[in-house]
Amino acid sequence: MDLQEAWNLSVEQLNYCYNPYSKFSVGAALHSKDGTVYGGCNIENASYGGTVCAERTAFLKAVSEGTTDFSYIIIATETQEPAPPCAFCLQVMAEFCDEDFEIHLANRTGIIKSFRFDQLLPYPFSPKLLDAEKEKA
Ligand code: THU
Repeated sequence: MDLQEAWNLSVEQLNYCYNPYSKFSVGAALHSKDGTVYGGCNIENASYGGTVCAERTAFLKAVSEGTTDFSYIIIATETQEPAPPCAFCLQVMAEFCDEDFEIHLANRTGIIKSFRFDQLLPYPFSPKLLDAEKEKA
């Protein structure tokens, strides 16, 4: 799937958002290195903390199907201003993605802003830190 098709998928995901509390819609399309693209939407909960963001929905779908290598994500909202991923989602990206993982912010008109992962989270708490500690033991 190419970038244009993945953008289409991210916008299509806006139709599936379950957001009765915030009414804020987020769609995501997560492109794996093998070319498969996983969609995601935000899924809210009456216990607000149980809400899952669109980006994490896409990651959970991919990882639960055995995919852990990713090249980019497209995040679509209905807003004119591009909406960056929240810190929880960036932390999930830190688990699976390299510094050059691309984060494309989009709306229904197209991709409006693009970043490398390390621009949005330059100094992540990364799984490598845990590895270093394990080696000492
Ligand atoms: N949301 C996402 O889906 N992704 C983000 O990175 C930030 C916020 C969702 C969660 C909630 O359903 C709504 O947007 C308002 O916070």
